[in-house]
This record gives sequence, structure tokens and C-alpha cells, in this order.
Amino acid sequence: MTYRDFALLLVAATAILQLPAPASAQTPQARSAEARAYDARRADRRAAETERKMTDAERFQLLHSIMPVTIPGIVTAPEGLKIAAGWIKGVPRLGLPDIYESDASLGIANPFFARKNDSATALPSGLLLASTFDPTLAERSGAVVGAEARSRGFSVLLGGGVNLTRDPRNGRNFEYLGEDPLLAGRMVGGSIRGIQSQNVVSTIKHFALNALETSRMQLDARIEEAALRESDLLAFELGIEEGQPGAVMCAYNKVNGDYACGNDFLLNQVLKTDWNYRGWVMADWGATRDVSYFNAGLDQQSGAQADKQVWFDKPLYAEYQAGRVSKARVSDAVRRILRSLYAVGADTAAPTPVDMAAHGREVRAVAESGIVLLKNEGELLPLSGSARTIAIIGGHADVGVMSGGGSSQVVPPGEATFVHLGGRDPWGKWVRKVIMPSSPLKELRKALPDAKIEFDPGYVPAAAAGMAKRADVAIVFATQWQSEGLDGSLTLPEGQDALIAAVAAANPNTVVVLETGNPVKMPWISSVKAVVEAWYPGQEGGTAIANVLSGKVNPSGRLPISFPIDESQLAHPVIEDIGGTGERPVTVTYDEGADVGYRRFAATKAKPLFAFGHGLSYTRFSYSGLRVTAGKAPAATVTVSNDGPRDGATVVQVYLTSVGDQPRRRLVGFGKVQLSAGERRQVTLPIDRRLLAQWGQKGWRMSAGDYGFATGQSALDLGESVTTRFNHAELGR
Ligand code: BGC
Repeated sequence: MTYRDFALLLVAATAILQLPAPASAQTPQARSAEARAYDARRADRRAAETERKMTDAERFQLLHSIMPVTIPGIVTAPEGLKIAAGWIKGVPRLGLPDIYESDASLGIANPFFARKNDSATALPSGLLLASTFDPTLAERSGAVVGAEARSRGFSVLLGGGVNLTRDPRNGRNFEYLGEDPLLAGRMVGGSIRGIQSQNVVSTIKHFALNALETSRMQLDARIEEAALRESDLLAFELGIEEGQPGAVMCAYNKVNGDYACGNDFLLNQVLKTDWNYRGWVMADWGATRDVSYFNAGLDQQSGAQADKQVWFDKPLYAEYQAGRVSKARVSDAVRRILRSLYAVGADTAAPTPVDMAAHGREVRAVAESGIVLLKNEGELLPLSGSARTIAIIGGHADVGVMSGGGSSQVVPPGEATFVHLGGRDPWGKWVRKVIMPSSPLKELRKALPDAKIEFDPGYVPAAAAGMAKRADVAIVFATQWQSEGLDGSLTLPEGQDALIAAVAAANPNTVVVLETGNPVKMPWISSVKAVVEAWYPGQEGGTAIANVLSGKVNPSGRLPISFPIDESQLAHPVIEDIGGTGERPVTVTYDEGADVGYRRFAATKAKPLFAFGHGLSYTRFSYSGLRVTAGKAPAATVTVSNDGPRDGATVVQVYLTSVGDQPRRRLVGFGKVQLSAGERRQVTLPIDRRLLAQWGQKGWRMSAGDYGFATGQSALDLGESVTTRFNHAELGR
């Protein structure tokens, strides 16, 4: 197998202004925006000074990384290096140490499990994090991963990923933050701030439109500029503004005909000119195909053994000597790398030990805040007191919880269970399910000591149904493994739909707990009473699930991604080559434009199974008094009350619903609010005017007129509405 095949296979600063952080939040010691701006200016000056002192050899040395990991027969790393995803030789005489890079957003990954006995805190998936709708939790998670990166001497973390969900079958959606640019942008901004608060550079990725894994090396994603600016690029734009990541990783695929890493429009025009991005652009591993990418805006070739040549070494130097690459461009690329390292103190930070128990508590808080209660008929949940006998079925619930595969895979502390899927060759090692050692069965037994809890693995539906029949409540755990390099399906695998149907037929009180990387179809939805989406809940997942089911934790997650009823509701029900890994070029034309996810449901008036923003609680919330002020800094004000019997958190959501007489649906403000039973609070959510605007010839443009807004329990379940008049205003680029 070649690396290319392998790559194919694997391949609201706190926008919640004026909202108090949830009681449990302990935001890391991230620096203020002013302090970061000062650091950035100082870093620019220092970078220029260092770069001036460099020899050309030293400059070119910084322009490419290699993979410091030996995979027998495939890659051989030079002796004496630490195992990592990337390594760049430093310049000790100028105080620049070697730069080690590690994956990524869900914890410190262990490439090919090559670092012996090195486990790390395994975070919940990106979709679970996004389900919290809480950028402070994103920041805290980022700080966990950043601290663990620094403790191992890594100075660059290859996360966070913020590709918008355009297809709920994309095998990497679990690493990302859903379908909405505002939510995804604010959440990734939080993660980046957290990572960089630990003196580690964060890398926002994969720029841009890496919305499918199948044929990702050949896929040409086509879309009109305005639609791109208003959707996928907006998520990056907001994330970069809020987090100021030191690096951007360009994607494998093409965008409008040019490979993303050699795409002058994306890199030079949008990123470096329109957004005035000051950090560096690194390629994805195996995505540098030509020396010409340097002038197109790529600053650094990555994992160079994965490419046909070390382009950004001798071949680039030859171009430089021939005058086709300017001295100014070389200096610019070098300075970008240096200033990003200096801006976060990555060049001087010493490895510092971490408190793994505290990190475990942090990631449990995330899991508990992001698990989504999708359905709860007759208030079957929470379980406390109501059930004397409980049948737990399937999903490896006796050993742990599912996680997602690929470069983001983390090996957690404790006894993880490995299910090999990929054969015996070295690449095959990469393809395996890792079941995190936090058993929902054991944790439920602890949480409900008076209940009799039995387990059936769920391989024989009739046997599971037999056990379910004897119980007061049956809980089926259903899993879906997803991985980088592989797109999936909306159908739960391995006959789990039939299992759920059999159990539901045997027991009217059936609960389904999903551990999935993506939305799935639920043909059994009307015959089960409750559904909980636990995503990939991370190393503390079993405890978090048990706490939600037993009522110790009141669920407050909301969907960051819409669940279609079936494939017919997708913008592209069939994509040629999906599920295959050929070398044939594939073109996907995103003619739905910026109408991704719920926006398309709103535009077409189709009703999904569950919409973006949906999520239930064990208490009831109501929203009233919506007001939206216009002007340069618009804001929505709304009063939220907890009208039910329990303390809990909700997510206030405000949507744009119309401009003039044109319907338009966009999330423009959100905030997570913790309220005691009976408590009410007024919250104010700032509205970024780009969310009210459209991209025109000269940049963002708002037309004068009436703008309609509404609160929503979800993007498609709107409440109170208001109309606000805005005067004409060009926003520019
Ligand atoms: C992935 C990147 C990752 C890189 C280094 C690639 O296969 O697409 O997200 O950071 O490998 O491991």
C-alpha cells in the first residue's frame, strides 16, 4: 500500500457575552485579547530579527517537516527523534529548538500506537463538544490537550478541525464541530485559545471544504464564492478571529479546480489578504504536490516522506536561485512560522507535568454537558427510582464506549479494548476500533445500587429481547465506528436496527443510547420511549452516560448537526465513488450553496428527524421578551426561565428568519445558561453583522430593511419573533 492509498484509507469569545459561566466552569488562564495582540506584535518584531540573522540553509530547513516515526517498510525516521506526527529541525544558535508536532483536537494521539506506554486524556468527539454550545468548555478542553502536548515537549498541536458538515456520512465529522458556521467558529475559537494558553501553537484545519473522506486526494469541491464565504469559510474566519491560531492546515482536496494547498485564491487572497492572517500555512500530510504551491501561499510542506519529493527543500531552493521565488516570499514564510511560535511562547516553554485526574474531571464535565436527550416520551428518563430491573443490551456497554479512528485516535489511560479491522500490514494497525475503558454497565450499577441490572451483548436479538421482556426498562446501546479516510452510512451497522426493533417489541419502556460519529437513521423511533445521543463521549463516557440516565446530571446538549430521516433528505443522496477509494477524479458541486444542514431544511420546508439545536431536559425552559437592537453592534436580548422542577442548563438560540420579504434561516446568537428551578434571567447575545449579510462583489453587504428574528428550541422549532429595521451598511471584506 502506498502512502497515498493509506491517506485515502485513513485517511462566542465567548459570544455569550454577559452570560455567567456554568457553575462548574474554570476557564484556564488564557490571556486577554489585548495581551494576545501585544504578544503578537512583539512576536512579529522578534520573528523579523531572528529571520534576518538566518542563513538560507536555516530558512529552508524550516519550510518542511518530516514524520519522525518508523513504520517498517514504509517510513524510516532519523535516529534519536521523539515519535510524533511532524518534526522540524530547529536552529539552536538562534535559540530555536526542534519543533515537534502532534495530533490533535481529541487528545494527544499516538501515531500507529508507536509510543509505548503513552496514554493521554481522551476527549469526547468534536460533535459532542459542539453539542455543549459552550465555548468556555471548548477552551477548557483545549487547555487539557495543550497542557498534555507541552508535557511531552510538543510545540505544535495539529487541531482544531472545523470543516462544516455538508454530508452526515463524512467519516471525519466526529472530529469537527457541526453544520453551523457561528457555532463551529466560536467553538473552535475557544479550543484554540485553550490550546495556545498552554504555550502550544494550534492549527485550524482542513482549509477548506474537506467535507468528504472518500477520494479526498482527488475530490474537486465546487461551489460559488459567495456561498463559500457565507458557510465553510465563515467558520474558519470566525475561528481564526476568536482564537488566532498560529497555523492553518490546508486540505487534501481541490476547491474549484485547484488543490487546496496550492490554491492562490484560498491562501493568498482569502486567508492572507482579506483576513490578514499572520500565521503560517502548513500542508496536510501528503498534500504537497508541487513546488509551485509555495508561491500560491503554502508556507510549509508537512510529513515530507508522504509526498513524491521534499519539494520545499532543494527543488524550492532551485526556484529561489532561478529568481522564480523571491527572497521576500521566503522571509515571509519563515517569519510566519517564527512569529506563531513566539506569540504563544512555544519556543521557550518547558515540559511541565500534568494532573491527569483533574483532566479526567474536565473531560467528564464536557461529556455531561454535551450528551443530547433526543426523545423522552412519558418522562421515562431519568431512571432513578422508576425501574427495579433494567436490561442493558449491546454496544460493548460492559467494557466501555466507542471512539473514532484515524489520526485523531487517542489511547486513554486504563484498559482500552481494541477491535482490529484492518489486517496485519503496518497500515492495517491503524484501522481498529478503540473502546474507551469507561463501562456504562458498571457505572449504571454504581449509580443505581438498588436496581437489578443485567447485561446481554446483543448479538442474538431474540436472546436480548427475552431478557428485555423480564425487565422494567431495557436500554440498548448502539454504536457506529467512524474513521478518517472512510465515509460511512446513515444506517446503524451490524444489524443493530433489528436488535433495537426486537427489544422494543419485547419491552414498551425501551431506551436507546447512541454512540455514533454521525447522525443515523432511526427506523424504530416510534417504538422506543427515549433516545440519548452520547456521540463518542471520551474516556469518562460511561460515567457521563450513567449520570444522565440516572438523573444525577440534567441533560443540556443540543444537536450541532441535523438528523435527516433518510438519504433522500440529503443535498447529495448519491455521490459517485462514495465508499470506494479509486484514483479516479471526483467532482462534487455543492449547488445547495450556503444552505447547509438546517438552512436547507428551512429553505425546502422538509422536516428532518431531529433538527440542529434540538435537545431535551428534565426540566422546562421558556423564552420571552425577545428584542433585537440594530446599529453597528446589533444584539438580541431575551429572558429565559426555568419553569420546571429541576435545576438545569439550556441553550438560548436566536435565529434570523427573514430579510425584507425573503425567508432566511441562520443562527445569529446562542448562549448556554444554567438556571435553578424557578429561576429566570435576561441574557444579551451580540450579533455579528456578517450573519445578517450576504457576500457581494465588494465584500459583505447588508441591505436596508426589516430583519426578522425568533428564539428557537431548535432551528426549526421557533418561538417568539420580532422585526428590527436596519439601515443600509456596507461591511466590506
Ligand atoms: C490528517 C491530518 C493530520 C495529519 C498528521 C492527516 O492524515 O488529515 O488531520 O493532522 O495526518 O497526522
